[in-house]
Amino acid sequence: MAASYWSHVPAAPPDSILGIASLYRKDPEKNKLNLSVGAYRDDHGNPTVLRVVRKVEQEPASDHEYIPMAGIPSFCQAAAELILGGKAKSIIEKRVVTVQSLSGTGALRVGAEFLYQFYHPTATTEKPHVYIPRPSWGNHRKVFQSAGLKVAEYRYFDSSTCDVDGKGLIEDLKNIPCHSIIVLHACAHNPTGADPSEELWKQILQVVIQKHHLVFFDSAYQGFASGDLEKDAFAVRMFEQSGIEMLVAQSFAKNMGLYGERVGALSFVCKDSSVVSCVQSQLETIIRSMYSSPPANGARIASRILNDPVLLGEWKQELLEMSGRIQEMRKMLYEELVSRKTPGNWSHITKQIGMFSFTGLNVEQVRYLREKYHIYMTEDGRASMAGLSRETVSMFADGIHDAVVQFSLRTASSCL
Ligand SMILES: Cc1ncc(COP(=O)(O)O)c(C=O)c1O
Repeated sequence: MAASYWSHVPAAPPDSILGIASLYRKDPEKNKLNLSVGAYRDDHGNPTVLRVVRKVEQEPASDHEYIPMAGIPSFCQAAAELILGGKAKSIIEKRVVTVQSLSGTGALRVGAEFLYQFYHPTATTEKPHVYIPRPSWGNHRKVFQSAGLKVAEYRYFDSSTCDVDGKGLIEDLKNIPCHSIIVLHACAHNPTGADPSEELWKQILQVVIQKHHLVFFDSAYQGFASGDLEKDAFAVRMFEQSGIEMLVAQSFAKNMGLYGERVGALSFVCKDSSVVSCVQSQLETIIRSMYSSPPANGARIASRILNDPVLLGEWKQELLEMSGRIQEMRKMLYEELVSRKTPGNWSHITKQIGMFSFTGLNVEQVRYLREKYHIYMTEDGRASMAGLSRETVSMFADGIHDAVVQFSLRTASSCL
């Protein structure tokens, strides 16, 4: 028999996040701890289905017919209003195109495909690059590259302060070519948990306007970061109010706990309502060729919650509970490290926002934690605070303390 057609195919490198999760699954140790994946866990370490979601799930099931290529209209409208604000000028003026997507990743991927096909802002043949923050969510680069776009980075994080490098960020946005595509995390920056201040957001907007950059917001944590849907939409809404054109990817994975249902939306905020129907038709064409139409179940649940004031109120309450528990874990971890007199300054743990803490641990320390303590986090030192519980926080603090003492002379980040 002839050799396989695929004998030349090399093994792909494991995904930086999901690869660690798979190592965790293979570990036979009972007292292991997975802090690598961004999924909310309750105080017993169990996955959570929101009460409001359970409630909607009890409603009689509708049919399993295909839904339109662009998704469920009532979901799309509500998703756009949630992020842009119900009274947003662009919504009132009918300048927004929203399509349902396969969660946040799918929104980014469809948006990337559209940009590859249609974003030609100048006469030059060189296509604008996509600029993502350094560091960024591990999948950003791959999503844009797989659509054929070139990806570069702008400075975002200063490891000496464990905070946003505002000066570097503004300098980079000023120095890159006009009309570049700028990916901005709407809130709760992943992996650093460090967001721009309101003042810095204003400066970013000014540079974006001056340089005619095209912003692509990635909103994966609205309401999950601070517990307040409005507060977490601050940056997106400020940019919308300025009248610029932009793209917004939304995920309902974390804030509604609908991870595997793949519920998301992609919105184009356009300058002019005359372009809306053409943009919509091209998005539908892209969707048709990629996966034909999105899944119905999760978006139906989300649509019910977003469009019913009582359910919406219940959801807001649960958002407060989830974000509050994460903040409590941050506080407990900080206090445990301070009480152990772990070398370094750990104030960034409580200062950072959202699901993750960018601990400042280096790769050796992360591997040490994995091998000795069976604690799994990504090798850049990111730990999901949502994966911690009252029971496990002291185990994590023990591990960090030991790793920092063991490798104190070789600590990469000066946050510690
Ligand atoms: C910054 C960011 N963008 C997008 C996503 C996409 O997630 P999903 O496709 O599960 O909605 C994530 C998930 O972790 C994320 O952190």
